[in-house]
Amino acid sequence: MKMNQQPLNISFLVLLAASFFMTSCDTADRTHVTDTRVTRSSDSPVRFTELRHPEKVDSVLALMTMEEKVGQLNLLSSGFAETGPVLSEEYRDMIFESKLGGVFNAHTVEHTLDLQRIAVEETRLGIPLLFAFDVIHGHRTIFPVPLAESATWDPELIRKASRIAAKEASAAGLHWTFTPMIDISPDPRWGRIVESQGEDPLLNARFGVARIEGFQGDDLYDVTTILATAKHFAAYGVPEAGRDYNTVDISERTLREFHLPPFKAAVEADVRTFMTAFNEYDGVPATGSDFLFNRILRDEWGFDGFVVTDYTAIMEMMPHGYARDEAHAAELSINANVDMDMMSQIFLNELPGLVDQGIVHEEQVDMAVARILDMKFELGLFDDPYRYSDYDREAETIMREDFLEFALEVAQKSIVLLKNEEQALPLSKDAGHIAVIGPLGDNQYDLLGSWSAAGEWSDNVTLLQGIRNAVPENVRVSHADGAPLDLHDDSRAGFEEALRLARQADVVIMALGEGRHMSGEAASRTTLNLPGAQQDLLEAVHATGTPVVLVLMAGRPLDIRWADEHIPAIVNAWYLGTRSGDAIASVLFGDHNPGGKLTISWPYNVGQIPNYYYAKKTGRPMDPDQRYTSKFIDAPNAPLYPFGYGLSYTTYEYDNLQLSETGISNEGRLSVSVDVTNTGDVTGDEIIQLYTRKMVASVTRPVRQLRDFTRITLEPGETRTVVFELDAAQLYYLDQQLEPVLESGTVMVYVGPNVAETLEASFEVR
Ligand code: BGC
Repeated sequence: MKMNQQPLNISFLVLLAASFFMTSCDTADRTHVTDTRVTRSSDSPVRFTELRHPEKVDSVLALMTMEEKVGQLNLLSSGFAETGPVLSEEYRDMIFESKLGGVFNAHTVEHTLDLQRIAVEETRLGIPLLFAFDVIHGHRTIFPVPLAESATWDPELIRKASRIAAKEASAAGLHWTFTPMIDISPDPRWGRIVESQGEDPLLNARFGVARIEGFQGDDLYDVTTILATAKHFAAYGVPEAGRDYNTVDISERTLREFHLPPFKAAVEADVRTFMTAFNEYDGVPATGSDFLFNRILRDEWGFDGFVVTDYTAIMEMMPHGYARDEAHAAELSINANVDMDMMSQIFLNELPGLVDQGIVHEEQVDMAVARILDMKFELGLFDDPYRYSDYDREAETIMREDFLEFALEVAQKSIVLLKNEEQALPLSKDAGHIAVIGPLGDNQYDLLGSWSAAGEWSDNVTLLQGIRNAVPENVRVSHADGAPLDLHDDSRAGFEEALRLARQADVVIMALGEGRHMSGEAASRTTLNLPGAQQDLLEAVHATGTPVVLVLMAGRPLDIRWADEHIPAIVNAWYLGTRSGDAIASVLFGDHNPGGKLTISWPYNVGQIPNYYYAKKTGRPMDPDQRYTSKFIDAPNAPLYPFGYGLSYTTYEYDNLQLSETGISNEGRLSVSVDVTNTGDVTGDEIIQLYTRKMVASVTRPVRQLRDFTRITLEPGETRTVVFELDAAQLYYLDQQLEPVLESGTVMVYVGPNVAETLEASFEVR
């Protein structure tokens, strides 16, 4: 039933009230935090978090019926048609009926304007909708996938990339993105490793904060900024066997020491929303977890934004065997102070009854609604619900030339050179005939990677095109797919043509890897092999004797033991987005000197997983000559390439590691300095990494922990002294009671180009 016959006077009343408050507030007030005026009863599970616009929120809340309130807690998805996003008739009617607080996957000014008009002009209260989208690595201008972006080790660069994504997304009518994903992921079998910043907590924290700052800016009232979401809370990155959505079973110590720090950093960076995780933690599905959301997020960290569930995650508490029925699921979730229901519609259907029966406190519902309205005020939607929907701004902003140039820079800096024997790279641009062989050689579609928002594959520059753009016209650049890009198709029908070109060519560039949907959500694998017949193709092309350069494109590290032994040059190009081909070509021909480094330990084979660098030592450390030590009998312990690894066309020397102190108190600090020299012939970027190890503690410590890093540019022959400030506070760990401590004893300090090649020194904590 539509309610568009309702008089609009109440709607105007609210907008008038809102604008009264708005005019009586200056800009400073918009970020001023005061207590909400919702009253608190003694036995309430409600976490009465602070609101930024308490009077304004209350002025709206006071007018709302219970049905209108639960409507605000309901988030549903737009669908997609040939012509762009469309909302189903059923969901559209729900806007008329005030049963939706927001819509996700809705974008473009045309679509959002259409839906916003219904919410504002055709409902009793006229409360504007929130429009959300997974803008994960660019909106329409697509940047490298997050795992690739993290290989830049340059959070400032990614802050700027996120600003660009925010400008495009906000110009397309959006208010909210479901990013950053800051789940720690030490398991390349898990497809969503592509969305992470790898295995390290510090990197995930720094990049997470950079993305939040990029999207949210300094002031959410600015129409070029949008809400960010820290997701997925918590421990989603360590499902058993790497199988997506599977059970997570880690200790509270591991949770707190490794998985929570990026989320705490997100709260400190003022992220405005959190998303629940699909998995359980310690026997409780995250979406109904009092421990995660009430105790940690609200009580310990004081998070005052709103929490959205992941897709149908409230409903999923039933198959988990945790909620008896939908009403129980609603109760568990709302009482965990989870505020918005994505797709289950369980809050909408169940909360009014639960409040009537006294099972859920009305204040709990009010608090959830208040947090969501607060963000709508914060974004200025009560001032002008259409302020994000401006056709001119959309046309001027999307795919701006400078955005595309910046996407090229990020793509170049994300590339990791894994191997370069006898300076096989860079190639000469006059290489007579270059054959580009492999299913990713002339492939626009897969370059988008997992989650591509409004990205269009037809915008992407393929590797073949990038090479053609880079070389003189007289150079022949040929191409053959050679093999299909399919996990289940090992057809060799294309081999003959590929081998014919390989024999004719002066050099072969092999573009192999995974299709974009082989990583990402619900894309776990039990092997890391090159899919289909690609390994055989690589070996056959290599056997022709023509020099081969391997360019890998994938959302995870692959098992490339054979290639590492036989192919002289390997470039890891992930999925680099819109400007992929130009970026890769610039590295192949030396127009850009690669400087990216791995943020994951690249496994030797799948059986080693998990094989993250911050492992512990064991009582029987590996000794190749002793059988009864901790090792494999058929593979090394070490990964194929260590965490932090990546080559360059120049070389660097590390020297003169100095600590400013020989001992500090557990509240002290010291400086760590090292001289880094570019000893080669070309300018390059080097990523300098600082690790520590507490040798003995009341709880055993990892063999290395990343404490700081920096990316610098060095001219040939240039030496720079790099100084890191190391604060004792960074070195704290949890004692047996899970209390933070730093006990006396020796701390080793390691500085180097990757975790496995470092200079070392030590100091004492006294
Ligand atoms: C994913 C989330 C995503 C949501 C909305 C879910 O399946 O787990 O990361 O934000 O869908 O698209």
